[in-house]
Parts: sequence; C-alpha cells; structure tokens
Amino acid sequence: MQYNLSEITAIIRDRRTIYPEQFSTRKVHREQLELLLNNAIWAPTHGMTQPWRFTVFTDNALLDLSEQLGRIYLETIPVDKQNDAKLGLLIKRPKLASAVIAVSMKRDETLRISEQDELLAVACAVQNMHLTCTAYGLGGFWSTPAVIHTLAMNQLLDLGEHDKCVGLFYVGYPAIEWPKGQRKPIEYVTTWKQ
Ligand SMILES: Cc1cc2nc3c(=O)[nH]c(=O)nc-3n(C[C@H](O)[C@H](O)[C@H](O)COP(=O)(O)O)c2cc1C
Repeated sequence: MQYNLSEITAIIRDRRTIYPEQFSTRKVHREQLELLLNNAIWAPTHGMTQPWRFTVFTDNALLDLSEQLGRIYLETIPVDKQNDAKLGLLIKRPKLASAVIAVSMKRDETLRISEQDELLAVACAVQNMHLTCTAYGLGGFWSTPAVIHTLAMNQLLDLGEHDKCVGLFYVGYPAIEWPKGQRKPIEYVTTWKQ
C-alpha cells in the first residue's frame, strides 16, 4: 500500500489544541462526529480488548453536562481546594462547544491486560479523533479536569469500578486563525544506539 507521506505528516504536525473559548457557533455534523469515532476505534489495542468508550454530548445534552460538571466539582473537590476560575471553565466550556465526547477506558473483565495498556490504547484513540478533527479543520481540546477521576463521574458515564474516564474531548469549528505549534527537535529527546 502506498500513502501520501507529506499529507499525513502535515496532519500530524498541524494537529492543534483549540480551546472552546476559540470556537465559533458553527455546528459540527453528526456524520463528522461519527467519522471521529469510527477512526478512534482503529487505535491499537493490546489483546483486542478495545477498551474505549465514548459518550457524545450535543445540543441540549451540553447544558446538562455543564450542570453536572459544576455539581460534581462542588460535591467532590474539598472546599479549601475549590477555585472559582476552574469551576467557571467547567460550566462554561460545554456550552461553547458543538460537541463534547467523554472518553473512557472500560477495563476488560478478566483484568488480563494491564490498566496502563488499556489507558494507552484509549489515548491512541483520542489521537485518532484529534487527527480526524484536523483533517476536517475542526478544533479539538482534550481536557482532563480533576472531576473526571471521581465516582460521580463514573456514575454519570455509567462506568464500572475498574473503568476510568480519561478526558473530555471538546469539538468545534475554530473562530481563530489555526494556531502554530512548536516542539523540541528529536535531538533533545532521542538517543541512537548502533
Ligand atoms: C493526556 C492529556 C491531557 C490534557 N489535558 C489538558 C487539560 O486538562 N487542560 C489543558 O489546557 N490542556 C490539556 N491538554 C492539551 C495540552 O495542553 C496540549 O496538547 C499542549 O499544550 C500541546 O498543544 P497542541 O495539542 O496544540 O500540540 C492535554 C493533553 C493531553 C495529551
């Protein structure tokens, strides 16, 4: 099989985090969200457990999500650690996005695959979604607020005790110029051995 290397390289390097505050009100179509998910599930998976689970919030469900995140924050974060700015973002952001995809790891019942491997597989699925966003010109933001690690979040997402929410993935059309990224060159992060 032959692929266009320059195109895949451009998509990988152009993938950017774009925050909900930077989204326009333009709606993302259901078919686009379905392609994000259909590409997500082609991530590698140790033992083929396919541990990814998605809960897609759109339209009125985004208002419910905003309320639930605010409630969970106030109920689970100790009062002395609560912060109005963080609470404000949790409530505001779902209302600024066209869709929020809560991404979770459902642990295989036998526990035969390590939790780390199951989480890594889900992270790869998120990357697939984010790259697909880039190809569409959509902004994506992988958010991992403290509330995702709570029992209340597991209840909201119908997750079991061994399962974990790995983030809220916000999707929307950018209202800004596509951001530029930067990375340290490979010399800083690579050791070659021959
Ligand atoms: C596992 C993971 C969790 C992240 N959680 C957050 C987050 O909670 N808040 C945030 O502002 N960015 C979060 N990010 C996005 C990073 O800030 C972003 O990827 C980084 O700034 C590099 O920018 P780029 O994605 O445009 O290359 C997260 C990224 C990853 C991989």
